[in-house]
Amino acid sequence: MCGIVGYIGNRNATPIIIEGLKRLEYRGYDSSGIAIIDKDSKLKLYKESGKIIELERILPAPKEVYGNIGLAHTRWATHGEPTSTNAHPHTSCSGKIAIVHNGIIENFQILKNKLLAQGHVFASETDSEVVAHLIEHFSRKTDDLTLAVQEALKLVEGTFGIAVISEDHPDRIIAARKGSPLIIGIGKNEFFVTSDVSAIIIHTKKVIYLHDDEIVTVTRDSFEITTLENEVVEATISEIDWDVSSIDKGQFKHFMLKEIFEQPISVENAFRGRLVPKLSTTRLGGLNMTGDELRILEKIQIVACGTSWHAGLIGKYIIEHLSRVQVDVEYASEFRYRNPIIPKNTVVIVISQSGETADTLAALREAQARGVRVLGITNVVGSTIARESDGGVYIHAGAEIGVASTKAFTSQVTVLSLLAVLLGRMRHLSPVFGTNFINELKGIPEKIQKIIESNAQIRKIAETIKDATNALYLGRGVNYPVALEGALKLKEISYIHAEGYPAAEMKHGPIALIDENMPVISIVPKDVIYDKIISNLQEVKARNGRIIAIANKGDDVVSELAENVIYIPETLYDLQPLLSVIPLQLLAYHVADLRSLDVDQPRNLAKSVTVE
Ligand code: F6R
Repeated sequence: MCGIVGYIGNRNATPIIIEGLKRLEYRGYDSSGIAIIDKDSKLKLYKESGKIIELERILPAPKEVYGNIGLAHTRWATHGEPTSTNAHPHTSCSGKIAIVHNGIIENFQILKNKLLAQGHVFASETDSEVVAHLIEHFSRKTDDLTLAVQEALKLVEGTFGIAVISEDHPDRIIAARKGSPLIIGIGKNEFFVTSDVSAIIIHTKKVIYLHDDEIVTVTRDSFEITTLENEVVEATISEIDWDVSSIDKGQFKHFMLKEIFEQPISVENAFRGRLVPKLSTTRLGGLNMTGDELRILEKIQIVACGTSWHAGLIGKYIIEHLSRVQVDVEYASEFRYRNPIIPKNTVVIVISQSGETADTLAALREAQARGVRVLGITNVVGSTIARESDGGVYIHAGAEIGVASTKAFTSQVTVLSLLAVLLGRMRHLSPVFGTNFINELKGIPEKIQKIIESNAQIRKIAETIKDATNALYLGRGVNYPVALEGALKLKEISYIHAEGYPAAEMKHGPIALIDENMPVISIVPKDVIYDKIISNLQEVKARNGRIIAIANKGDDVVSELAENVIYIPETLYDLQPLLSVIPLQLLAYHVADLRSLDVDQPRNLAKSVTVE
């Protein structure tokens, strides 16, 4: 949730790490800070609450913060309020050591009490500050900063992505990870450390993903990775496969709008190279499962959070429909703490855009501890979930910066539909069905593009509901999870309370809410349960509810009932969510924008939720 950027090289570190921080601001953003070791080898510290612009305001003229080595951090408060004192970097008593930390130190109170007893003085209320003091404690015993950090981290229980600099060692950054991402960027005579490649991709695409319990010592021209036990580890250098344009807004006002507009391409990237028209099926090489293993599969347990959980619910509809393999979907936070029954011949599929969500990761580990194979559907290459899964599929959506997930959702659904066809074709689906499905999927990007062309109309509709205080989203079958997703999009960025329901459930309670002020956004495609949804809408209309319908072209019945209709092209039942969610994303976006809210960085939210 928080973000780390560090630099060591021959350039001035300050503008590099500040720019990097801005790229990370989307992850968590209640305060920020930087520490620089200046040309006189003095540690300089600047911290401020609020956005990074506030930090920039307190920075002295560039020349005064000149140094070739520095660390920066954006914070999303866990322990202690978002004040400048609680912002990172944190320093030791001597003020010579500075650390930035992502994660949670679970035994910080015990460690803090011991350090206080030894005379250490604490400035902040954070758990992180103990690490600075612990390192100082061990630095008194050794001249080797890496060893001091190793010893300190051995005492820490919890999770960390951490980076350390010291006035006494102005030629190195030490960084380490356990359960929170830490990446080393390799430049020419310069290195970067970061928790997220977006921060450094304008400088280098060559990276090393640290593993848990690894620590790296980086100087201007070298690096060495060891374990916390000081055993040398061989590094694997990876190449980032997405482009700098992914992290620029371009002509768009917000990342969210850009990412919605990118969906014709991102959906195509999710199925590119994975269709096998000759055999009327699909191919997902990364599953690491043989045909025999896939054929005997009897159950899939999907585990995820938030929008990824909604994608999982759609996966249930599609996979069960096409392959008849039973699918259960559960919130990761629930799965991990109960005692789930996982029958034989089950695989667990974890879905996570970031690949770092703490609950999803814990659920993955719980399933593996029970000897169950776990497949990961992730976006971020090299993320912890991608690495720890036994197999999986990358969705290749490119960097998703807007906090509200949009393109990752449609890419997740695309990948789940590929899996459904693969499993279905191994069972009873005919080649004719497989071919038809593949052809229809290939046409989806163009159909999404068509819907995006209704953007101006959707903004006008958004005008009509922007002052609402509540909204209801209705859908049935495969569009029921889309209703949930539409409601989540609206509430998280516009702060309007919204609920998603299967349309027929409305009369079991929510109908009491309907009056002339209640927008009811309904997904009404022409499918087998069309008539049933129309009846549900009649019930809304009879109570003066304001209906906004997502329907297929030429639907005159809906246009009679609804105040506004957004038309979407027809497609196969299982692929409908890839189309019906687009107007809902745009509607939520425009409502939030018309309310002048910070669309890309909604209050209280962070892009990747690495705490429980
Ligand atoms: C909502 C949203 C969140 C995430 C959830 C899981 O727009 O983005 O609900 O879907 O925090 O995140 P990942 O997919 O990274 O595990």
